[in-house]
Amino acid sequence: MADLLLGQILGFAADPFEAGPEAARHDSHGAVLVEGGRIIETGPADVLRARHPLARVTDYGHALISAGFVDAHVHYPQTAIIASWGKRLIDWLNLYTFPEEMRFADRAYADEIAARYLDLVLSNGTTSLCSYATIHPESVDAIFGAAQARGMRVFAGKTCMDRNAPEGLRDTVQSAYDDSKALLDRWHGVDRLSYVITPRFSPTSTPEQLAALGQLWRERPDCLMQTHLSEQTDEIAWVKDLFPQSRDYLDTYEAQGLLREGAVYGHAIHLTAREKDRLIEAGASLVHCPTSNTFIGSGLFDMGLARHLRVGLATDTGGGSNFSMLRTMAAAYEVAQLRGQALHPAQLWWLATQGSARALRAEDRIGNIAPGMEADLVVVNLASTPAIEQATRRAEDIWQALFPTIMMGDDRAIRAVWVGGRRLRG
Ligand code: GUN
Ligand code: ZN
Repeated sequence: MADLLLGQILGFAADPFEAGPEAARHDSHGAVLVEGGRIIETGPADVLRARHPLARVTDYGHALISAGFVDAHVHYPQTAIIASWGKRLIDWLNLYTFPEEMRFADRAYADEIAARYLDLVLSNGTTSLCSYATIHPESVDAIFGAAQARGMRVFAGKTCMDRNAPEGLRDTVQSAYDDSKALLDRWHGVDRLSYVITPRFSPTSTPEQLAALGQLWRERPDCLMQTHLSEQTDEIAWVKDLFPQSRDYLDTYEAQGLLREGAVYGHAIHLTAREKDRLIEAGASLVHCPTSNTFIGSGLFDMGLARHLRVGLATDTGGGSNFSMLRTMAAAYEVAQLRGQALHPAQLWWLATQGSARALRAEDRIGNIAPGMEADLVVVNLASTPAIEQATRRAEDIWQALFPTIMMGDDRAIRAVWVGGRRLRG
């Protein structure tokens, strides 16, 4: 049976970094027709109601119906250590992250956190995400199993590390290759799941391990590869010591076959001119993680890059301090302000939906409201708290009505979530 959702509809006909706010399509009395897990049709509510009299109608009134949020870079195993106080990247990894990731040798714990994590993000309106697991293959089975049970489109991979990590949290060149390949063959393309080849970052992989993963990517070219790039200055200095033969941080990946279309680099804050040119030339994707970058004190991402390559937006749970893509859009706005780049609400919303989907090369399936797209939808109450409601009373257009929710909204603004055409909440 078809479902007809009524409300204010927000989608995109183009990229607002190129076309400006006019790239958005907004209908204040719109409708979305959903059947068989996909969006069949969108248009004015009265037209679609008349055309589909047998469809089951859910009327969300003045609430905003958008594509569900796409979080392009997370570490689901860091759910329980989110918001741990007071460290910068390397100390934060050693003190909080690695001990927690060690616990994922226990499959029951991995299952518990995977379920907890997905339920938390769904309650925040996130319907798709790209996650690092831990070095344990079972941690990949846990997140894919939990995503499969919820019908979600999820990207994930086994984090590979063969040095500079504690005993119990290191694999080897061979086991990283073998385990990644086995997981890829088990999960990639099953239901809505995609495997991602995942070296954590150059400091924790030997050049031999990076080369083995580059080899695997040549053998399985249709999957993504994710890693971290130039997040903090101390990290970059460390990479320089560890890879004296490399021209720069990006070269440590490039030299091992880990730079091309489908490469997804988290953070990418402190880039050289050569690195920027090569990233653009190669068609790589970058993921901006603003709450993480301020929380661990990394730096200010240059959103000017969004005009030249694919940029997604992400929470970076648990280096990021929040599970909400609304809060993440607010942080992206604040970071850009500090660089003199005032992001328009249309650009922020696009980054959290189509932009992230493009970074993951899935923009033809998720991240927008258009016929043929998968029906992952979030319904947002634009007056979810007294503070937000009073700030929107004199709004004259959708952007003035939406911006207070971007800046002050949280999970209370998430009225409903639909995943693959099924209503999960609201
Ligand atoms: N660099 C390498 N690993 C990590 C991680 O888990 N979080 C963040 N923010 N940066 C990293
Ligand atoms: Zn990360």
